[in-house]
Amino acid sequence: MAPQRRGAPKASDGCGATERGRRNSSKGGRAPRDVRKKWLRVVVLGACTALGGLLLRGHLGVDEDGVTEVLASRSEVLPGRFVEVPCSEDYDSHRRFEGCTPRKCGRGVSDAVISRDEAHRIRSIAEKGLSLGGSDGGASILDLHSGALSVGEHFVNLYRYFGDKIQNVFSEEDFRLYRSVRQKVQLAIAQAFGISASSLHLTKPTFFSRINNTAARTAHDEYWHAHVDKVTYGSFDYTSLLYLSDYLDDFGGGRFVFVEEGANRTVEPRAGRVSFFTSGSENLHRVEKVRWGTRYAVTIAFTCDPDRSIGDPSLAPPGASPTQPH
Ligand SMILES: *[C@@H]1O[C@H](CO)[C@@H](O)[C@H](O)[C@H]1NC(C)=O
Ligand SMILES: *[C@@H]1O[C@H](CO)[C@@H](O)[C@H](O)[C@H]1NC(C)=O
Repeated sequence: MAPQRRGAPKASDGCGATERGRRNSSKGGRAPRDVRKKWLRVVVLGACTALGGLLLRGHLGVDEDGVTEVLASRSEVLPGRFVEVPCSEDYDSHRRFEGCTPRKCGRGVSDAVISRDEAHRIRSIAEKGLSLGGSDGGASILDLHSGALSVGEHFVNLYRYFGDKIQNVFSEEDFRLYRSVRQKVQLAIAQAFGISASSLHLTKPTFFSRINNTAARTAHDEYWHAHVDKVTYGSFDYTSLLYLSDYLDDFGGGRFVFVEEGANRTVEPRAGRVSFFTSGSENLHRVEKVRWGTRYAVTIAFTCDPDRSIGDPSLAPPGASPTQPH
């Protein structure tokens, strides 16, 4: 992964450096320097103002990534925001389930579905699990359903690998919390799209992700490519993401971007923020590369097809079928 160079942070560093330089140089001779100092200050101030203007423009308008609009900023607390977009034809090539398969498509963001406290507790499940492994590249996943855990350049099955000892890692309470969060997200999606929550079924993969700025080692680490969930995972009809850390407090980069012609729209992660959308090409998206810090999130996906449903993860004995009907 090529380290990304962006103008904004570099520019502000440069500004600070000039300020430091000015302070150092003022230690030297006095009188003849005063005029120069004054002019230097004007130049520095002018440069900083111009840079500030650029940064502001980057925030409100077009920045070098082509991001044009913030759908959900980290600093707002959204009771719920929903934007309808026309459905793509992706659903036509799959079996339709009336009353569930999207006829109304769109995307929603809410900070009112999951509390920050719940998000922090869910995050500690992710931390516990991921501390047992971790990708050599910057992106690690933990799938409590299948047991898949990134280790080095591969995945192991946590349940098979740790056997009964897994009960020393996760508690019944962890799984209860996960289930309750899944239920709340499912309800929020059903409400937003005007369908019955019981027509939605959890589907795989559903997983925690932990991303930092370590260079990718395998294709599994390359999370930043634009993609369509319905194309990548046929079973997905509604995708949701629950963010477990805060953009700009815990990590930089790593914003979620709906990629559109004419207007890319970002969702800035915030612990407890749920972002959900219909999984077809009407919601082509990508995640920006994480530039610093660590970003935690959980992807929870739903299908309308009962045959592709999976049960909630549980502390079932290893070998038990992860796909229980429900
Ligand atoms: C949206 O982002 C993509 C890259 O993900 C970029 O190629 C495209 O130019 C951007 N669109 C706009 C309108 O900025
Ligand atoms: C990023 O995560 C990997 C594990 O996935 C770890 O080995 C590495 O030290 C981390 N890098 C940073 C900069 O924290």
